[in-house]
Amino acid sequence: MVLLLSLVLGGGSCGDDEPYPAPPLLPVEPLALESVSWNATGVAVGIVAAVAEQGDDLVVLSDQGALFFRSGRLDARDGSVRHWRQGAALPLPDEPGHWLVGLDGTGRLRRLRSHAPLEDITDRYRLPAGAVADLVPLGGQRAAFALQQGGLVVWDGGALTRYEGTFPRLGGGHGQVVSVQQDQVQVVDAGRGTGWSYEVPGVVAAVTDPTGKLVVATATSLFVQGGGGHLQRVHQEPSPIIRGLVVAGTGVWMVLDESLALLRFGRLHRAAGRLVPAGAKLVGSPTGDLWVLGPTGLMRYGEPGGGGDFALWKRTILPIYTRTCMQCHQPGSPATVDLSTYGAWASRRMLIAQRVLEGRPSPMPPPGAQMLTQEELDAVRQWVEAGM
Ligand code: HEC
Repeated sequence: MVLLLSLVLGGGSCGDDEPYPAPPLLPVEPLALESVSWNATGVAVGIVAAVAEQGDDLVVLSDQGALFFRSGRLDARDGSVRHWRQGAALPLPDEPGHWLVGLDGTGRLRRLRSHAPLEDITDRYRLPAGAVADLVPLGGQRAAFALQQGGLVVWDGGALTRYEGTFPRLGGGHGQVVSVQQDQVQVVDAGRGTGWSYEVPGVVAAVTDPTGKLVVATATSLFVQGGGGHLQRVHQEPSPIIRGLVVAGTGVWMVLDESLALLRFGRLHRAAGRLVPAGAKLVGSPTGDLWVLGPTGLMRYGEPGGGGDFALWKRTILPIYTRTCMQCHQPGSPATVDLSTYGAWASRRMLIAQRVLEGRPSPMPPPGAQMLTQEELDAVRQWVEAGM
């Protein structure tokens, strides 16, 4: 089914004269970072345009082609396509699950599978004819594609909804597509089929954070959507040094004056002295780590963990937490415990096995909330057993 809707813009804008409510600016807290090893044998990967990641699988898309890594080791390479724009784990057309997809330089979508041809799967999504300019996964079975000839198509696991307009620089997440253009942030809510926009002079980036709040950056200020939908300034810099918002795990990464900062659960953390080269591109990992695609190579950064199976937890449990537990188990949730950290999970292994796997004394998530898929239940079982 192809629906044609035009995007109604308006509302939610901030007036020019009284631009934003006065700050309570967030205190900036320190952030401990380490470089995370992802390429055990130091394979040269060329100039990297994009990465796509799912569980143990990582595909690096560069001028050398598509390089397939499994558990940190090169598994295969395919040099047949060397011009890439974007990569992502996208929902499978018409069935549950996700596959790794690259958007090549000609605007075609290619399935990325180790030891298999780079199959052109553009038509599987039944998109209108023409090249794809950009893509963004929206969580669950939803994804959005910006078309080169203009317009946006939201894929909803089967149905397509088309929105007219121009949608440069797509961001998104949490069922929302966010697009930034001159002094304006456009938001499309894929679930409701509605759209609106914010007037933000000098906007450089915008995303929807994992809790569903819009986060917007100008070169000198950071705004977060507060109650009533208004954007509230949470951080300000004396000089233009902010760029590159990307969602990863439970937070939003950005560059502040060539160092990395993380906005998470309403707190802003900033690393000391970690240099991000000018022009580097940021890509968020579902594990909460951050990829930095720079002229000097591909780096991965993350917070130091501690425990033995922290890496496994980040890879398999954190995405489950983000999708199904986070809404109730955030820091500061009054009725529940904070399960946002590895430590919180590791100290409750038995309790989590009982509540999530055995449903006693009562099941988690509780009835009526988003259920875990069989794959997710298996991942929880494996993680619990790995630590016993
Ligand atoms: C709709 C809200 C909601 C969701 C979603 C939810 N929980 Fe809970 N959870 C609660 C509440 C409320 C409690 C406290 C009451 C209780 O123990 O039943 C709780 C308690 C728990 C406890 C016991 C903690 C302790 O120290 O006593 C665990 C473990 C837990 N949840 C795990 C999870 C996990 C894992 C998920 C996601 C897979 C999840 N929950 C999703 C609401 C939720």
